[in-house]
Amino acid sequence: MKTKSKQYSARIMPFSVFLSFILVQLSAKLPAIMAGNQKEGLVFSGVQPTGNLHLGNYLGAIRQWVRMQDSHHCIYCIVDLHAITVFQNPEALRESILTTAATYIACGVDPKRSIIFNQSAVPGHSELAWILGCHTPLGWLNRMTQFKEKAGKHRENAVLGLYSYPVLMAADILLYKATHVPVGEDQKQHLELARDIAGAFNRAYNQDVFPLPEPLILGGATRVMSLRDGSKKMSKSDESDFSRIHLTDDADTIRRKIMKAKADMEFDGIYYDAEKRPEISNLLTILAALQDVSVEEAQKPFANAGNKEFKEALADVAVSTLSPISTEIQRLIRDERTYLMSILEEGADKSRKLSEVTLQEVHQLVGFLA
Ligand code: TRP
Repeated sequence: MKTKSKQYSARIMPFSVFLSFILVQLSAKLPAIMAGNQKEGLVFSGVQPTGNLHLGNYLGAIRQWVRMQDSHHCIYCIVDLHAITVFQNPEALRESILTTAATYIACGVDPKRSIIFNQSAVPGHSELAWILGCHTPLGWLNRMTQFKEKAGKHRENAVLGLYSYPVLMAADILLYKATHVPVGEDQKQHLELARDIAGAFNRAYNQDVFPLPEPLILGGATRVMSLRDGSKKMSKSDESDFSRIHLTDDADTIRRKIMKAKADMEFDGIYYDAEKRPEISNLLTILAALQDVSVEEAQKPFANAGNKEFKEALADVAVSTLSPISTEIQRLIRDERTYLMSILEEGADKSRKLSEVTLQEVHQLVGFLA
């Protein structure tokens, strides 16, 4: 960022002219760096590279990410800095970053249209997190329910990174001036905080630096629950492997998990009733989402079906949609490691360029030597 010409222009131009110059530069760079120019707004989202992604991540998030590529500029991050808020085995983390990249691509995130990169490769995330942290009252952080849940009873031993996690998340989003952020329901509070931090920063310097990012809460219609307990979300932290379908599961495993999924016995036919039949309703939700139809539509053929017949039909659909994804993830991980690395590098280069524009503007505002 500290090229001679930029320092020079900063000195000879009045401050407001300089600012608009940077802003124009940022908006001009976006279409240049990212393909397509009829698009509205900038989407930023990310997933932590801890363990394999599952069906809930796919139907609730990544599939939506893929669709948004048609209408928005998209940046999809692998948030490895967030991952280390809980200790990670270094070898497993490295592998997981690559698997997550492979998963994004296998699901249809297109590296030609979207930026895919790992967070730690762009130092601006940490840097902006520090600066934003200096504008975030402790009282706001103390309200974060995820910290309370994760820190549990051992609050004194919880690490600082776990506490400041939401500030880093705000930095991720604001670094690119993202306008839309698709996240799950569980991240809603963090996103509200990001909006509050953006507002606080804008007010502190009396400038509209950061747009307030709009949450796009995903998974409403496709909230995927555990296959073992219809009242719990499908989660990578559930100790039962049979509670979830990993995107890396092969066809046999997918089929086996569906056939073994918990289902009720005391009703005739298959129909949606989230209260009385949470497990069957979850399986219907999954079927509808996989077929991209409404639940009413999906349940029609099964009005008189038994559990086994229904599960077999669901397994067929799940295998035909998901096993090509898992085959592709396996292939990328096995044969295309260099390609995956090059996608991440290219993504990091583009993100770094974008981030530097924002950082320079922020440095100016807070009073650092530009
Ligand atoms: N905290 C998010 C999660 O665990 C991941 C994340 C980090 C994120 N930074 C982000 C999501 C920025 C959206 C935007 O799901």
